[in-house]
Amino acid sequence: MEPHWTDLGPVDELKRTPLQQRMVGRTAIALSCVDGRFAAISGVCNHVGGPLGEGRLDGDYVVCPWHNYKFHRATGEGEPGYEADLVPRFELHEEGGRLYIDLDSATRRQKAKHARHPLDRPLGREPGGLRVVGISTTNMDVANPRYSTSDALLETALEHAGKVGCETRLIRLRELAFRTCEGYYSKAARACTWPCSITQMDPGDQLDRVYEAMVFWADVVLVSTPIRWGVASSLYFKMAERLNCVQNQITLRNRVMLKNKVASFIITGGQDNVQGVAGQALCFFSELGCQFPQFPYVAHSRGWSAEDMEENVDYVKHSAELHEGTRALVDRAVDLARRLAATAPAEHQHRAGRKASGYLSAKPSLPVVIGDD
Ligand code: FES
Repeated sequence: MEPHWTDLGPVDELKRTPLQQRMVGRTAIALSCVDGRFAAISGVCNHVGGPLGEGRLDGDYVVCPWHNYKFHRATGEGEPGYEADLVPRFELHEEGGRLYIDLDSATRRQKAKHARHPLDRPLGREPGGLRVVGISTTNMDVANPRYSTSDALLETALEHAGKVGCETRLIRLRELAFRTCEGYYSKAARACTWPCSITQMDPGDQLDRVYEAMVFWADVVLVSTPIRWGVASSLYFKMAERLNCVQNQITLRNRVMLKNKVASFIITGGQDNVQGVAGQALCFFSELGCQFPQFPYVAHSRGWSAEDMEENVDYVKHSAELHEGTRALVDRAVDLARRLAATAPAEHQHRAGRKASGYLSAKPSLPVVIGDD
């Protein structure tokens, strides 16, 4: 077959950029130049479509800017050990000081079979009674635990949930080794994946326990947090950032991962700002798709002008009202979960109801993926 050469531009100019993403019609190309030698492979990564030409070069490999997969800049093969992952490569031709590409010369894209992550499975509630997960977000030395007011109330809550017939599970974030969110969403919505990109790439990352409990196991999610400088704990936010991948599935695929889930909160602190902490938590968990019982949090703070924290521990330990209020919160959350479980959820297909924006329909068409089956 006769090549169909398309002009990419002047050689002298193209040589100045070691790696660039070029669109040839609707085809994305990762064009590289090392020591004066040009090469071109597809600009669409095999993983989830990252723009390879916007990445960087590591020797003769193009490193994807989204999750660091590598492909040989000339052959399109994955890095050693992953050669079966192959992106198309293209013929180039220099003439009269200009560089040309033949799109018809594209080789075949090939995706190696990768084992599915255990979290990558169909959504759905497994049969069984109501289940409550408590997530403690307070931080302290695991080897030398101290009394925590938010933990104490969470324990009261889970004990009560057990007494009213629920299965319970306690997750203490401080006991999990997990990385902070690395902002894949900030590069592109599609770079933020389910399961979380970090969870998939790092087998040592233990936030999978939170994902498993929240997405698949629990009917009620009970989050406890201390107030630290007027906001929830740093571990709470570390978890919340990593839950972006759950919320982002709504943006990307209209896939609401938390359905019929009830969220409630336990908030305690020395100084004030209960309403600020609760407001953030309610907003965030509503964005995840959770429901809330009437009066969805129980809270206590010693107050702005109080500096007697040693009294505070005593107060929480012995406050019958606070522990009773916590049990009542569990009753309301479990009652709502029971009623939700008894009714099939309404299916709403129009995500514009959430943000009044149609990300998927408004997005300009993605590049043609040459060689994708
Ligand atoms: S590594 Fe390229 S899209 Fe994930």
